[in-house]
Amino acid sequence: MRHAGRALACLALLSSLAVAAPAAAQDDGVAPLPDDFLWGVSSSGFQSEGNGPDSNWLRYTEEQEDKEDVGASVDFRHRYAEDIALAADMGVEVYRFGIEWARVEPAPGAWDQAELAYYDDVVRHVLDAGMTPMITLNHWVHPGWVADQGGWRSEETLRDFTAYAESIVERYAGLGVMWVTFNEPTLYVYHEIDNGAATWLDAPWLFDRLARAHSAAYDFIHEADPGAMVTSNLAFIPLTPWLFDAAFIDRIAHELDFVGIDYYMGVSLDNLTAARTLTGGLADAQPDGIYYALRYYANKFPDLPLYIVENGMATHDGAARPDGLSRAEFIEDHVYWLQRAREDGIDVIGYNYWSITDNYEWGSYTPRFGLYTVDVQGDPSLTRVPTSGVDAYAAVIADGGVPAGYDPVVPESVCSLIDPPLSCLVPAS
Ligand code: BGC
Repeated sequence: MRHAGRALACLALLSSLAVAAPAAAQDDGVAPLPDDFLWGVSSSGFQSEGNGPDSNWLRYTEEQEDKEDVGASVDFRHRYAEDIALAADMGVEVYRFGIEWARVEPAPGAWDQAELAYYDDVVRHVLDAGMTPMITLNHWVHPGWVADQGGWRSEETLRDFTAYAESIVERYAGLGVMWVTFNEPTLYVYHEIDNGAATWLDAPWLFDRLARAHSAAYDFIHEADPGAMVTSNLAFIPLTPWLFDAAFIDRIAHELDFVGIDYYMGVSLDNLTAARTLTGGLADAQPDGIYYALRYYANKFPDLPLYIVENGMATHDGAARPDGLSRAEFIEDHVYWLQRAREDGIDVIGYNYWSITDNYEWGSYTPRFGLYTVDVQGDPSLTRVPTSGVDAYAAVIADGGVPAGYDPVVPESVCSLIDPPLSCLVPAS
């Protein structure tokens, strides 16, 4: 067992920090996840609906030459019934999608009834297929008129978002919806700055308004929909997760019913390939990082359940990846580490794969994350073509995980830097 001696020595010192003190590796392999574990898929409005109305992001794509046009994307706006059915066919239980504020309120106080009816029908299809809708109220996109008033630099935006969110929540209260207020607030702020809509000096005010908007939404969701589960999903950033927590989640931690975590990328002494993403490359997958990301939040929020709201693998236009991993292997390896986390006492209650189909990756159609691949720029029929991930995901859902004797394709990392020093000094096995 790699690291075992060092782990034992450190364990005595660090066990007070580690809610889930790593169990010795199980001889009989990993146990399945419990029957009530939630298996989901994730998507967002702007990235998949296509032909959206005026918004901050539509402007970024139209005004910046290095960003591809969104166009019709995968046309979820008209093909939602097909995508929801594809998810249900895999046995998926939670369907996450976003409501686009710009669609439903294209001008201040003016509600577009046709677009609201479209979302009503999405919700109905998800429910009729026996799945739980997980609705994101804001996935980085706000209407053009909100951008004109300064986006989140303006106090008016806090007031306007609250009115929008309240009407959506009232509309779908009582249907068993799981709510995500803001998708990855740290990256929302980063993208606003990166796209020139705000400066670094604005960042504290942006975070402050987003936190207050989350708090307001949390309160009225619980008034309108008392049993609802609410989160804001966090982009897990390795090395210094606490630094990013300080910007947002630490402020609203008392207003979360579960901690939504997006895990895409790890760093370890034997995997520093995350650096490739700075120049548009693909990092090698580090599946055991999902274990350490979960353990980090289990230690931090021992009373809150955890949910992997996004986890997914990109190819470049479907080509082989530098690490050679298939989508099936990616899913199986990550699910293996979820099972390990559960065995070690970590209260992880769900997992969403990002995404059900390929979609617009914030400037480009090259990265493809879909269980179903769609050649948006080359195939006018926008046919959903299954990848190896479809059968693999259906199998793990049916079996509650990978089989007991599963041997991960990607070896356990040497000194994970997901949450240093703990993730290095106290490895999972
Ligand atoms: C975002 C998604 C994005 C995914 C893959 C997440 O940070 O929430 O919108 O497509 O990462 O890059």
